[in-house]
Amino acid sequence: MKCESIMVDSRARTILLVEDEETDVELIRRIFEDNSVDWELFNASSLNGALKWLDENESPSLIIADYFLPDGSGLDLLKEVTGREKKGITPLIIMTGHGSEQLAARSLKSGAIDYVVKSVRELRNLPWTVKRALLEWEHATRLKRAEEETKNYMKELERANRDLAEFAHTVSHDLKAPLRAIQAFTTLILEDYGDTLDERVREYIEKVGDAGERMNTLIKDILTLSRVGRESIEVEPVNVNELLEEVKADLTALIEERGGEVVAADALPTFSTQRVWMKELFLNLVGNGLKFNRSGKPTVEVSCEERERGKGNGKEYLFKINDNGIGIEEKYQSRIFNLSERLHPQEYEGTGFGLSICKKIVDKLDGNIRVESTPGEGSTFFFTIPE
Ligand SMILES: Nc1ncnc2c1ncn2[C@@H]1O[C@H](COP(=O)(O)OP(=O)(O)OP(=O)(O)O)[C@@H](O)[C@H]1O
Ligand SMILES: [Mg+2]
Repeated sequence: MKCESIMVDSRARTILLVEDEETDVELIRRIFEDNSVDWELFNASSLNGALKWLDENESPSLIIADYFLPDGSGLDLLKEVTGREKKGITPLIIMTGHGSEQLAARSLKSGAIDYVVKSVRELRNLPWTVKRALLEWEHATRLKRAEEETKNYMKELERANRDLAEFAHTVSHDLKAPLRAIQAFTTLILEDYGDTLDERVREYIEKVGDAGERMNTLIKDILTLSRVGRESIEVEPVNVNELLEEVKADLTALIEERGGEVVAADALPTFSTQRVWMKELFLNLVGNGLKFNRSGKPTVEVSCEERERGKGNGKEYLFKINDNGIGIEEKYQSRIFNLSERLHPQEYEGTGFGLSICKKIVDKLDGNIRVESTPGEGSTFFFTIPE
């Protein structure tokens, strides 16, 4: 049986035909020959014969099995074939003398790639049925493989991320001890020898102290960031109005220094969420609104609305944090969520970790975060948290 017309791929050349009726075997053989199809056809006349053949030979490209076999059914064979995964699953077409929709459905449900009736018309089409079914099967297999690969990559990525967070956590934790020593000794030098020190030396040592303080903040930020990556989410009911009172208390120094104000909408929700992370989010966003602000009265307003998530995904809370600060040019609006991205490093203090921590928290809580802003007028940060 030679000719190129029905090649599926270079490997796909053998068919095991499991059929006990010799006339049917002959008919099928002839149909393949008449259509000049480049398949090698092997025949087994029983279920056990087929299994023996499969044991002794390379897996065929395809099995066509009669439903009624002397020692079982085509579906039994299908089950056996699917069970032998180490040889790779071989596609199988079920064939019967009398068509039945029920049997067709059962065959497909059991994993057969097609179902044909042994009528002259259907058998004449068999070479094309085989080609089509094999192409579809290959396509589905490739898709499945790709899906599996993607799943594996995702798992790998998650693991790598966890390792990285673990590493960041360990390193930053270990950095704390020597840093504490540097800070302690600079303080001691200033306290004990401050008066005797040359003005220049004093200034240098103070600079060491300031740098140590900045490093401390940085380490704290890295620890927070790695914690969000590593820890599982433990939720508890959180009253956002109360949480904002705590945030305001923590920001007292900044609020007073700037003569600023934080206005919270009356009825912010109470819902189940990760309390510490929610506080971290507000601390950062409200803090930024007050910090990046040149108005005579820096004002940050916090509000929230409940809305549909879309596509039957339940509800979510949309929080808005609006300020009358310096604003952010459009081209920087997505970049500011990157690690260490600071637009005015000379003018304002910070490590540039705040918004990346916010983004990580919101991601972890299955929400999203973005900003709208007009330079010179102010910014509004929006983030969503599913209910
Ligand atoms: N409300 C805002 N108005 C104007 N610019 C902002 C605002 N929030 C953030 N930015 C800009 O985005 C940058 C990143 O913000 P982010 O909170 O990550 O860092 P930071 O505040 O500089 O440092 P950190 O939060 O770690 O103390 C800021 O440095 C600032 O340039
Ligand atoms: Mg910040």
